[in-house]
Amino acid sequence: MNRKIVNRDIATFRGDVAVLVPAAGSGLRLGGGVPKALRELDGRSLLSHAISRLTAAPSVGLIVVAAPPHLVAETAQMITAETAADAGTAAGAEVEIVVVAGGATRQESVALALAAVPEGLDIILVHDAARALTPSGLVESVAAAVREGHGAVIPALAVVDTVKRVSAADAVLGTVDRSELRAVQTPQGFRRSILVKAHADAVDQHTDDAGMVERLGLAVHCVPGSEYALKITRPIDLILAEALLRAETA
Ligand code: CTP
Ligand code: MG
Repeated sequence: MNRKIVNRDIATFRGDVAVLVPAAGSGLRLGGGVPKALRELDGRSLLSHAISRLTAAPSVGLIVVAAPPHLVAETAQMITAETAADAGTAAGAEVEIVVVAGGATRQESVALALAAVPEGLDIILVHDAARALTPSGLVESVAAAVREGHGAVIPALAVVDTVKRVSAADAVLGTVDRSELRAVQTPQGFRRSILVKAHADAVDQHTDDAGMVERLGLAVHCVPGSEYALKITRPIDLILAEALLRAETA
């Protein structure tokens, strides 16, 4: 881990996909006093859960984690210890994992991870560490849609609640047509050149990478998302994730 990979022959990666994992957030809404990616769920960190599922997707050849800047070495050690049992499970080859220092915002963390991807890997996924239980099947379906020619791909789910626009004074301004709405998840997948341009041209902060591609006026394609790809954000999400994990292993 943390080896210099810039000059590495692309053909030696296990798969043709690089996944950037922003994991440098502090997790204020979840609480607990540690960065969210390092919070434990069933004896291992959220980040390790996410990495295990990424390495179980055969397309993935490289994972670049953006860690809290003061915890880069600890994060690398933790990944080595907690994912040792996963290594080499697919096709007998290991997925390369690199840890870099993240930034002050999610967007900055993604940009820093993107800068560490060697030339030649042309399909790049961006995946929140906080979506720790994302199935490898979703990773594969996003990668496949990029491979088939979509420049930007997002997993999306229908919105279950009725959604209203409300004024600052709590007065309802109107009801939004729910059939047109989707809740969007990660991994989001991109042709490399599009993601690089989106980040280079970004003038303000976006909560996802596809938002920057939309701003360029380029097409973004939806594939079906997964309930398991929920973003662990609030304390109740951790309880839900524990239950999902139990249901999965039962
Ligand atoms: N993230 C990051 N760098 C930042 C901020 C966020 O890499 N400066 C990552 C988080 O680690 C997380 C993902 O972006 O995996 C989505 O962010 P979010 O769920 O908002 O996580 P946090 O920012 O950690 O949580 P909070 O907003 O509650 O503090
Ligand atoms: Mg945040």
